[in-house]
Amino acid sequence: MGVPLIVDTDPGVDDAYALAVALSDPAVDVLAVSTVFGNVDADTTTGNAGRVLGLLDRADVPVGRGASRPLVHPTPESAVAVHGADGLGGRAGDFGEPGAVAVGRALDVMAAALEASAEPVTIAAIGPLTNVALLLATRPDLAERIRRVVVMGGAVSVSGNVTPVAEFNLHCDPEAARRVLVEEDVPITLVPLDLTHRCTVDEAWLDRLAVTGPIARVLTGTRDTYLHHYRQALGVSAIPLHDAVAVLEAVAPGALRTSPLPLEIDTSTGAGRGAVLADRRRTRPDPPAHRPVDVALDADVDAVRAALLDRLSRAGSAAR
Ligand code: RIB
Ligand code: CA
Repeated sequence: MGVPLIVDTDPGVDDAYALAVALSDPAVDVLAVSTVFGNVDADTTTGNAGRVLGLLDRADVPVGRGASRPLVHPTPESAVAVHGADGLGGRAGDFGEPGAVAVGRALDVMAAALEASAEPVTIAAIGPLTNVALLLATRPDLAERIRRVVVMGGAVSVSGNVTPVAEFNLHCDPEAARRVLVEEDVPITLVPLDLTHRCTVDEAWLDRLAVTGPIARVLTGTRDTYLHHYRQALGVSAIPLHDAVAVLEAVAPGALRTSPLPLEIDTSTGAGRGAVLADRRRTRPDPPAHRPVDVALDADVDAVRAALLDRLSRAGSAAR
């Protein structure tokens, strides 16, 4: 049995790479994939999860469709401009039709996976945190079965990507983000833009990956819309595979360097909505009200890029 993992996702170009990272390692046992609104609507993210699993010949992995909207305030945005209207850079067709995946409800599929696992399960949360918040709220008894939740999200000391202070996943559902990152006790590793924006991969890297096999060719074929956005957003001809970096940490603990930081999440409806407030003071007058989160602010970036290339070049070859 490998490292048990659940991936909660809104595929999504970088989510597709992240799923391939998780499924490319025979030492990782992907118990379930749960889908959530985010980059595109929940119908599309769910279909895309099925497409990626089908491409990777892993239609055996159960898929649970999750939240179509945030807990409280309707989210104003999607990320169609970044991920394309189909969520896969306009190339969803290249992935083939969704595999014959058992599409249930996310909370049921996540709970069943947690209850059946002999070992505590890692959850890689790479979309809005609505499903994870609802799971913990409706099944608090399952928290002890969660080893940790590795969350891609937030911006600690860098600009956000949907507002000057807020990152997309957290901005989509700040109330859910506060539940998971602040109020709950489950161990959290947060992988923010501070690091994922340093782990960009360029076109030469994508070209090296593309020639490693048919699955890599389909994944890298999604680049155009995503690359166009990031040329403008970052001023470089490179793309951040945010979610793949987070999943790398989930499957290879210690791949990233973390710091324990107490967090707060701005759930106001003002300009700060969705912002992460990390207490980085060396001394604090009062003990933090909530447990610290392990925030991944550093890594050997070249090693991260090499690990992603190695793992993704083996996508589809993981023996079952
Ligand atoms: O801000 C980056 C995050 O938002 C990634 O998870 C990407 O897939 C989008 O969902
Ligand atoms: Ca995502």
